[in-house]
Amino acid sequence: MGLVGGSIDARVDNARVPPLDAAHVLAPFRRPADRPEFEDFVRQGNLHLEVGFGRPHHLCDLAAAKPDAQVLGFEIRRRWVQQASTRATRDGLTNVRAVEGDARPYIERLIPSGGLAAAYVLFPDPWWKKKHHKRRVFQPGFIATLADRLKPGGIVVAKTDVEAYADLIDELFFDSADFTLAGTNYADPVLGTLPRSHREKKCVELGIPVYQFRFVREASP
Ligand SMILES: C[S@@+](CC[C@H](N)C(=O)[O-])C[C@H]1O[C@@H](n2cnc3c(N)ncnc32)[C@H](O)[C@@H]1O
Repeated sequence: MGLVGGSIDARVDNARVPPLDAAHVLAPFRRPADRPEFEDFVRQGNLHLEVGFGRPHHLCDLAAAKPDAQVLGFEIRRRWVQQASTRATRDGLTNVRAVEGDARPYIERLIPSGGLAAAYVLFPDPWWKKKHHKRRVFQPGFIATLADRLKPGGIVVAKTDVEAYADLIDELFFDSADFTLAGTNYADPVLGTLPRSHREKKCVELGIPVYQFRFVREASP
């Protein structure tokens, strides 16, 4: 499954396959019975959200490392959502939920303003071709949405192994008055202690540079 165009509502409502029925997996748009659990999970506070978790190493390791956090992951590929469910069940994690789908409409419509402690976007798809750049997760509108959903002092962690994408992230956040850059490498106390994603582990193993950022949501004046 790839990202599809059209309005947010079309993307959410036109999925052709039934929602995945698995432990820790919620489908708040497509299975109305899941909506109250999703809303309760989100409102419990200390919400950490991951966009495009892929193989769920970081998602589940984060939930294990932060038992006081609610860890919510979005992933468009069913295979990785199923794997998150299996891993969360195996590890007895109670503070992680996974949603199958494009993260953006869920964040826009179901995460309250100021309701988020942290957002992680790790190795987002680079969409190399210029005509596909609009499909990249990092866009000015997405950064404005994150700024609204994060509490003051909340963080965005972004990592990539694509230098041009790192430049884009740097520029987009530099242009936003809502964020300051707090860390760019493993010497940062947060970046240095977070669990690593599958791709990050591969990069480190192969000696591929990882460009990483920790941005902090400033308090509004
Ligand atoms: C390059 S992989 C990185 C996976 C993982 N974060 C890692 O570091 O190993 C990018 C992942 O993001 C997912 N993805 C892309 N756009 C997405 C979106 N808008 N919402 C949710 N998942 C998305 C893809 O399916 C893919 O699994």
